[in-house]
Amino acid sequence: MTDPIHRGRSTTAAIDATTTVDATTATAATIEAYGLTKSYGKSAVRVLDGIDLRVGPGSVFSLLGPNGAGKTTTVRILATLTEADSGTARVAGYDVVADRSAVRRSISLTGQFAAVDETQTGEENLRMMARLTGANRADARRRAAELLERFDLTAAARRPAGTYSGGMRRRLDLAAGLVGSPEPRVLFLDEPTTGLDPRSRQQLWEVVRELAERGATVLLTTQYLEEADHLADRIALIDKGRIAAEGTAADLKSRVGGHRLDLALTSREAYLRLAGRAVHHSPETLTLGIPTDGSAAHVRALLDETDPTGRDIDRFSLHSATLDDVFLALTSSEAPAHV
Ligand SMILES: Nc1ncnc2c1ncn2[C@@H]1O[C@H](COP(=O)(O)OP(=O)(O)OP(=O)(O)O)[C@@H](O)[C@H]1O
Ligand SMILES: [Mg+2]
Repeated sequence: MTDPIHRGRSTTAAIDATTTVDATTATAATIEAYGLTKSYGKSAVRVLDGIDLRVGPGSVFSLLGPNGAGKTTTVRILATLTEADSGTARVAGYDVVADRSAVRRSISLTGQFAAVDETQTGEENLRMMARLTGANRADARRRAAELLERFDLTAAARRPAGTYSGGMRRRLDLAAGLVGSPEPRVLFLDEPTTGLDPRSRQQLWEVVRELAERGATVLLTTQYLEEADHLADRIALIDKGRIAAEGTAADLKSRVGGHRLDLALTSREAYLRLAGRAVHHSPETLTLGIPTDGSAAHVRALLDETDPTGRDIDRFSLHSATLDDVFLALTSSEAPAHV
């Protein structure tokens, strides 16, 4: 859908919003949501089933979840593109329904909705967007040049955006989201690095970190656990419209014991007997991963307990828990509770 949000802000408006918020609600969260629900259609299941969020100023918060979890729907509600059926949300101190235009002035939105004109060059797109936000010709040229440089698009600046690769296009989208307000107070990034090669992803991470360091509050959605681990101060795992877990990457990893003991089993029977305790399953290799704190005492106890006869475990290895482990443990309906 074409949306005017990321084109309609002026820097002044964004600064005004900052001043108001700082003066009145200095310690408040920049993004807060309580009990958001949303269904589509009449008999439809709930796409959001009571989402609560609090994101502190200047932090990077990641909504991490599989396809259809409700990430984009949450972002769209917070960015005022759609309304929740129930619940409330405030962004930069403003209610997303009652103060919609103030919210829009405080945010930059980049994601699945970003629209650039494919027939125009990257430079023309950015200049036009800057002009739309009220910049004069010289400022528009300067801002476009700065953003092209920052996103490593200078060499491609004179080519039509339609000829850009997926990664270049993604960077242009993000630049377009920043052209109206180079220092937005709140930045929503919906799967900003999907489809990017590792180098482009790194570059984008750097930009996000830089924006957060300068005080922006960033809410980003991702399906990449690694991305959330690298970038986010806090992570919410979202699954089937609910927050399954929330915390720092370390908090979340500690929920599965901090480490994982992988057991390569000698038989299918042993595999099936122990599968219920595992957070990681690899039936092809008859390997199961079981949460542990990694201490010798616990590992020894686990080995004794899972294989009292000494015949069922062929080999074992110890790994640091990854967000993958947490994610699988907390979101998959098959994966049972553990330790
Ligand atoms: N306009 C709509 N009409 C009907 N159903 C919708 C609409 N928008 C989203 N949905 C449904 O709501 C659910 C959540 O969608 P949403 O886009 O929020 O998920 P997501 O977490 O962003 O997924 P993805 O990782 O695929 O982007 C999905 O089942 C989707 O099909
Ligand atoms: Mg989505």
